[in-house]
Amino acid sequence: MAQQRLDKLLASTGLWSRAEVRELVRRGRVTVDGVKAGKPEDKCAPGAKIAVDGGEVDCTPHVYLMLHKPAGLLTATEDKNQPTVLDLLPAHLRRRGLFPVGRLDKDTEGLLLLTDDGPLAHRLLSPKKHVDKVYYARLEGRVGEEDAAALAAGMTLGEGLECLPALLEPLGDGSECRITLREGKYHQVKRMLAARGAPVVYLKRLSMGPVWLDEGLKKGEWRPLTAQERSALELAGDED
Ligand code: URA
Repeated sequence: MAQQRLDKLLASTGLWSRAEVRELVRRGRVTVDGVKAGKPEDKCAPGAKIAVDGGEVDCTPHVYLMLHKPAGLLTATEDKNQPTVLDLLPAHLRRRGLFPVGRLDKDTEGLLLLTDDGPLAHRLLSPKKHVDKVYYARLEGRVGEEDAAALAAGMTLGEGLECLPALLEPLGDGSECRITLREGKYHQVKRMLAARGAPVVYLKRLSMGPVWLDEGLKKGEWRPLTAQERSALELAGDED
């Protein structure tokens, strides 16, 4: 494994920003293998013991998983009364403090990313980043070109909630569709399609940014992201 920059390793824990790490190093609060760190950009050998104020920091690489969420589970880390998506993971991963990147409704299926990488999750969910999310929906009623034009123009939902332009692709006779959103407002797909007179009866997320649901995963199954998927996620999203 290659050497890594000290500031990148410490910031990847999600405990400090890069700026905060720089300040910690400047104040002499960081040691690498017991020796006070000189510069934030110093390279660390794999397995080096990094400590802040004498306390060792776990800089093992983050965990990134894709889960095929089944219906019936809450997208939450815990709930007193109902099962959550975390219940699908083994204990050692649950202990790691993983959390879902964004939310799917209880009855929505499909791609859910789970990680313990706070900064990455924050970037993917930032409204400034416009990360595409593609959904498949089955509808009561039908959608067609007029609906696609309405979504492309940017809909205004109840209480004046303005949505960014979205891509609606009717499938077959229009009782199914694909919809691509660049944001994630509460119940957004269901609200947009209901407002077009075609309520959603089944919803599945197919992708988040560059990562697509692995159709080899059965509902309830998960797998780690590949190195390519992880590095593609790092680059996901345009800034405003
Ligand atoms: N939009 C919805 O309405 N529900 C979801 O679960 C995700 C997007």
